[in-house]
Amino acid sequence: MKRTKIVDLLKREDYGSQVCVKGWVRTKRGSKAVNFIALNDGSTINNVQVVADVEKFDPEMMKLITTGACLSVEGQMVQSIGSGQAVEIQATAIEVLGECPADYPMQKKGQSFEYMRQHAHMRLRTNTFGAVMRIRHNMAMAIHTYFHEHGYFYFHTPLITASDCEGAGNMFQVTTKNLYDLKKDEQGKIIYDDDFFGQQTSLTVSGQLEGELGATALGAIYTFGPTFRAENSNTPRHLAEFWMIEPEVAFIDQEELMDLEEDFIKYCVKWALDHCKDDLNFLNKMIDNGLIERLEGVLKETFVRLPYTKGIEILQEAIKNGRKFEFPCNWGDDLASEHERYLVEEHFKKPVIMTDYPREFKSFYMKQNEQTADGGSVGYQGAIAPGPTMQGTDVLFPQIGEIIGGSVREASYDKLMGEIERRKMDMTHLWWYLDTRKYGSCPHGGFGLGFERLILFVTGMQNIRDVIPFPRTPKNAEF
Ligand code: 4AD
Ligand code: MG
Repeated sequence: MKRTKIVDLLKREDYGSQVCVKGWVRTKRGSKAVNFIALNDGSTINNVQVVADVEKFDPEMMKLITTGACLSVEGQMVQSIGSGQAVEIQATAIEVLGECPADYPMQKKGQSFEYMRQHAHMRLRTNTFGAVMRIRHNMAMAIHTYFHEHGYFYFHTPLITASDCEGAGNMFQVTTKNLYDLKKDEQGKIIYDDDFFGQQTSLTVSGQLEGELGATALGAIYTFGPTFRAENSNTPRHLAEFWMIEPEVAFIDQEELMDLEEDFIKYCVKWALDHCKDDLNFLNKMIDNGLIERLEGVLKETFVRLPYTKGIEILQEAIKNGRKFEFPCNWGDDLASEHERYLVEEHFKKPVIMTDYPREFKSFYMKQNEQTADGGSVGYQGAIAPGPTMQGTDVLFPQIGEIIGGSVREASYDKLMGEIERRKMDMTHLWWYLDTRKYGSCPHGGFGLGFERLILFVTGMQNIRDVIPFPRTPKNAEF
């Protein structure tokens, strides 16, 4: 008999029909006469209740129906009164496809997330992780749909690269060399001539630079792939391997870029509310009571557009009024997550797009704001900053901090080269990037959304390790 997915079965009303479902036992309860088995097949957060009259089945087989066991059940679809669902199954045949001994790691309910992480291979079978993974899938669909509908081309950038987009040096090396027998030149530098690619290569930290090649040819592209950062950050917001979405658009200015960021995030959040109701209701009940309200709230809000310099003023005002922060925040300092969260959660109480950052802690490729005679610069809507700034457009979110990092790009060859020289950057492996500015250069911009940070926001989960199936973090590459 053909198997029906539980998600489909629970929508049916043709009571009396014979059906077959397969799935894993969540719970079994009941009396000597009747057993009630809650079965879940991962297609939905909801279980179907299987009713088994004990006397009709082999008692040895019935003993094998334990939490976690895998069953195939045939029976009659009947209207249910007590199971929380409209449908249940009166079993006529049960086969145990996979037994589940008592040392099953997901046996007990209410295990800590830390415990679950140590059993990441089995945690997917729990309600919480099932919900998170279904939402993760739906968010990927939202993203592809959004860009496809808006005329962006899905553009595949390489994962192995010879360039460091962010210039932060947090790269994982890729080599086939015998590390115990490295050839070095007179200065002690490693010779890569005989390595696989004939040069030093790494896993990419961002597809942006190649994305710019796509955008300045196809008009609008987006990437959606894994990126890698060898930063030793043991925080609930950082992974060594995470997925990033990077749209890159020709002929876009700062205002339009911020419009895109806002519209895109809202589309994703709305998609979750429209497509993931059951899973969100579950998470709202079990993980975070404010979740759905917060998601709906974001759709109603107009994001604040705030020059960095104004942000610093607000933070310093707060400090004057007695607010304490762990890290300093004077003009020129990179904002710590506590500062971002203060602005978003306490001061504005809505998402903030921060613009016009000091160039010292931003990347070389960002569009430089016009400088004033006294060394300041002119930013978004004429706001004056005391030093040189760049047209960054990061989105800061409640609970998360930075969810998007973006900018308008410097389109002028001379200005870009000026910045590269000022930073004393080695451009040997980026000659092709400079060609975008040499041949038919055009104004353009884009951003990177950290996929897992979006999933954190949409699920209300607290730790980024719990929104990706198999997290990669310092000292952890299990599974
Ligand atoms: O701000 P970032 O470093 O920006 C870039 O890489 C640009 N090249 C993107 C672009 O303009 N095309 O990273 C972008 C986003 C961050 O805002 C954050 O959401 C996420 O990527 N991110 C991380 N997520 C998880 N773990 C990490 N270690 C992350 N580092 C950045
Ligand atoms: Mg950033």
